[in-house]
Amino acid sequence: MDIEYLTKLSTKARIRELFSLFSDDARSDNYSVSAAGLFLDYAKQNIVDSEFAPLFTLAEQVDLAGKIAAQFAGDELNCTEQRAVLHTVLRAPDAMKHDVLGAEAQEVIDTEAKMAKIVDDVQSGNVRSITGEKFTDILAIGIGGSYYGVKVALSALVPYHQQGLKAHVLANVDGDAAQEKFAKLNASTTLVVVISKTFSTQETLLNATIVKAWMLKALADSDNSPADIIAQHWYAVSTNIAAATQFGINAENILPMWDWVGGRFSLWSAVGLPLALIIGNTHFNALKAGAHAMDEHFKHATFEQNMPVIMALLGVWNRNGLGYPSLAILPYNHALRALPGYLQQTDMESNGKSVDNNGNKLNYLTAPVVFGQEGTNGQHAFMQLMHQSADIIPTDFILSLAPTSEHLANHDALVANCFAQSEALMQGKTLAQAEQELRLSGADEAEIKRLASHKTMKGNTPSNTLLMQQLDPKSLGALLALYEHKIFVQGVIWQVNSYDQWGVELGKQLGKEVLNVMAKPMAEIDSTTLSASSLALIRRYKHNLGNS
Ligand code: F6P
Repeated sequence: MDIEYLTKLSTKARIRELFSLFSDDARSDNYSVSAAGLFLDYAKQNIVDSEFAPLFTLAEQVDLAGKIAAQFAGDELNCTEQRAVLHTVLRAPDAMKHDVLGAEAQEVIDTEAKMAKIVDDVQSGNVRSITGEKFTDILAIGIGGSYYGVKVALSALVPYHQQGLKAHVLANVDGDAAQEKFAKLNASTTLVVVISKTFSTQETLLNATIVKAWMLKALADSDNSPADIIAQHWYAVSTNIAAATQFGINAENILPMWDWVGGRFSLWSAVGLPLALIIGNTHFNALKAGAHAMDEHFKHATFEQNMPVIMALLGVWNRNGLGYPSLAILPYNHALRALPGYLQQTDMESNGKSVDNNGNKLNYLTAPVVFGQEGTNGQHAFMQLMHQSADIIPTDFILSLAPTSEHLANHDALVANCFAQSEALMQGKTLAQAEQELRLSGADEAEIKRLASHKTMKGNTPSNTLLMQQLDPKSLGALLALYEHKIFVQGVIWQVNSYDQWGVELGKQLGKEVLNVMAKPMAEIDSTTLSASSLALIRRYKHNLGNS
């Protein structure tokens, strides 16, 4: 059986009929699973046992169990870059690190210890700024996987931030982003962490350069040399130690990362330093423990009780069986407002591919377009389309049962909206119901005829509802690991390499070409690789700058 078979299998039944008039408690009991402190209700998915069975068969056929074991054992699953995929080992106990990494384990363990010491020293004031003051602000410079993980965790874990220390993340190459930071930072008490696996990413290097210039200018009148200032205020996280040193960061302030950790899976490494500096080692270790708990569940649970496997197979069913091109991530939680953006990279940069591991063109679709926004804001943005356009958009609702504020009435409303939206997306509203509602509201037949069809809603939209008791470092770690493993399983099913990202290379190459052309005098603007359209745009840009 192959993926295409799924499209023939789907009955496209209406979910609401699956509930036999919504009284089917057994379905809710059977279509839910708990793992690592999370609870997943998938009873509102448009699937029945007879459609689930072939999905589990598919998982067997692609040897999912073998692939899971291979990943955790450090096999080179990243076949194009010939690398292992071992972000999971970063959150495993040391004994497991030694088992998997062998000789390299000690470097990983030593790096963790070094990172923990930096955190303790900065938080306690043992390590201070060049002016002898305690650091007040941490500025993390990085983009993509060197940004999203830190960002989602910083905004999710505000209650765990240490007093007196603020975190800032700078990713975009737009100078406005850096300017916004300069306006609120005091160079003399700012610690900078440059995060870049390759230490060659254009945006990060440009931003690090202007931040360095800003800091050295601000502290120039002190009797400290630029080298002393950098040595006291700057850290880096990279596989490219030479480039980081070349940039001017002291070797002892550079924390390594390894090529077997993909950027978008690197929060658990020293990439997490800005986060650990703010929430402290205890909470950073709790984040890793939560992720490790999900790892253990993923490794040992039978597929039928395996939360990442179930979410992955439902995603394949919605994508390839039911033909739905998108996935909405709707955290009903202000603190998780950065999660949709994080998952856009984690999911779409991993599985947004169309050739298999052997380079053969696929004859089926892969990753959906992932989007989302925190609830209830999304209800006032795109939920109209989700309810009344012809498109059916599968949705993940994510909710913390316990409030993260003392405003209990607001939390009740948040929870009610979350449950109501999943119900409304599933039930919809038929023409007969719309007519009846209008009739009961006193509308006359002409009004009913005029309005009823405008008030119908398609329903039949499948959703997951993922619950956590409360949002804390442990549950956040489990949540992020859950999605990492879901994406891994989908990559195995789709037979794609989830761990490279060659698709970003062309844009980078053409970006360099455009910059080169821009540097030419107007009269010499030309290129053998850029279209007339782009050349005209470049001329317009240069003209606007006053470059004739
Ligand atoms: O988005 C492309 C990408 O290579 C990501 O995979 C990576 O997380 C990001 O750019 C930043 O790369 P680096 O950490 O090497 O600066």
